[in-house]
Amino acid sequence: MAKEIKFIEDLPGVGEATAAKLREAGYRTLEAIAVASAGELSEFGIGEATANKIITAARNALKIGFETAEQILERRKNIGKLTTGSKALDQLLGGGIETQAITEVYGTFGSGKTQLGLQLAVNVQLPKEKGGLEGKCLFIDTENTFRPERVLQMAEATDLDPKEVLRNILVARAYNADHQMVLVEKAGEVIEKENIKLLIVDSLTSKFRAEYVGRGTLSERQQKLNKHLHSLQRLADLYNIPVYVTNQVMSNPGILFGDPTTPIGGNVLGHQSTYRIYLRKSKGEKRIAKLVDSPCLPEGEVIFAVTSQGIRDIE
Ligand code: GTP
Ligand code: MG
Repeated sequence: MAKEIKFIEDLPGVGEATAAKLREAGYRTLEAIAVASAGELSEFGIGEATANKIITAARNALKIGFETAEQILERRKNIGKLTTGSKALDQLLGGGIETQAITEVYGTFGSGKTQLGLQLAVNVQLPKEKGGLEGKCLFIDTENTFRPERVLQMAEATDLDPKEVLRNILVARAYNADHQMVLVEKAGEVIEKENIKLLIVDSLTSKFRAEYVGRGTLSERQQKLNKHLHSLQRLADLYNIPVYVTNQVMSNPGILFGDPTTPIGGNVLGHQSTYRIYLRKSKGEKRIAKLVDSPCLPEGEVIFAVTSQGIRDIE
């Protein structure tokens, strides 16, 4: 039998010198290698073919991506949907925010990312026939923008007891990127104990963006984000819950025509969020949501409204 691969030295083609090079560049674990691209590794003097071999071996060692089709089908039978409050937006998403999936919403400030999060935190408590999941919400607030007063306003527009609604939202403040990661890694216990049916991270990227500035830190940031997203997806699968994350945009000077904004986190996020929605402000309460890169739904755009009662269809 082949030797078990546990450390980067165990990877085929990685000698001591290469291992040292990788370590120095910040690739210290199999996980770090598994999520790297051959292009990234070749920057450290590792040939592209070798890089590919190393990455594949690391992925195999971690058993990334092995689940039988039958297992997946069985798991997918339990998928639930959570209403956003707007039929148009639900429709765009194939019926609402999906469990076992990460839904990422990105857009500029004031586009409604947090508003949608607060609305979902209320809606998850609704009975199933009203589009809810009959559970509580775990809200990880990284920007200190969670507003119970606004939740109350939204709750008062439902048949639920507004005080109860507030009690059913557990808010955790994340003080930095590492703390944010730890909160998610430790979330399993509270999800199980408290019947949490929705996990929100608002914002997913702001702490990472603030802490990892400059070119040299990019690979470390992407690795951490990747790991973080893996933990989120694991929770989504394990507990059959939707994960809703928000993301800022940065202006992309490389784009000369069209909309010069791209979400933070680039490919890492693009590959790992199941649904990506780009939100834009329109006139007054109107917002435009565009579905980007969905695995099984057509791309499309809808308009909804952020009203005093919450997320609604436009009149
Ligand atoms: P950043 O976190 O800054 O990136 O923005 P965001 O996308 O999270 O924006 P957010 O969801 O906080 O949207 C704020 C906007 O929602 C405000 O500018 C208002 O247009 C709208 N909004 C917030 N509260 C109310 C309200 O009580 N009534 C109405 N009609 N609109 C509201
Ligand atoms: Mg916000």
